[in-house]
Amino acid sequence: MNAVHCLNGPNLNLLGSREPEIYGSQTLADIERKLGQACEARGVALRFRQSNHEGDLVDWVQEAGLAGEPVILNAGALTHTSIALADAIKGARTKVVEVHLSNVHARESFRHRSFIAPVAVGVIAGFGARSYDLALEALLGGPADSER
Ligand code: DQA
Repeated sequence: MNAVHCLNGPNLNLLGSREPEIYGSQTLADIERKLGQACEARGVALRFRQSNHEGDLVDWVQEAGLAGEPVILNAGALTHTSIALADAIKGARTKVVEVHLSNVHARESFRHRSFIAPVAVGVIAGFGARSYDLALEALLGGPADSER
């Protein structure tokens, strides 16, 4: 494996200013920087992307699958709606970890349903920006020595 893909769905480009009481004050660029450092310490590259468009995410999951590289996926609201994204994950020969900043299970009932969870290796939700770090740890093992 050469890279870990971190894919982010609709509205996550607005992190930092979007409902900070729910999603925290860190921006997506902050999350990318931190995750990039964690990947570097483990000797893997990070492909970090965001789109507001479902088809882009489908394309990127397919791309990661063809490369056999794992995916950290925060699909945003598409988590609760997208059969296309679930099908892409099912067809991809790679591991996908579903992440959420917020604890979706403690929120509105429409957020309790995930089309991604049944086709993901696991789900991490509710730890803010740390959810991404925990997902990386789940995929690659504990922090590298230099991070301890
Ligand atoms: C989210 C939770 C989703 O329900 C929501 O639509 C988002 C963000 C999260 O990271 O907590 O856009 O995925």
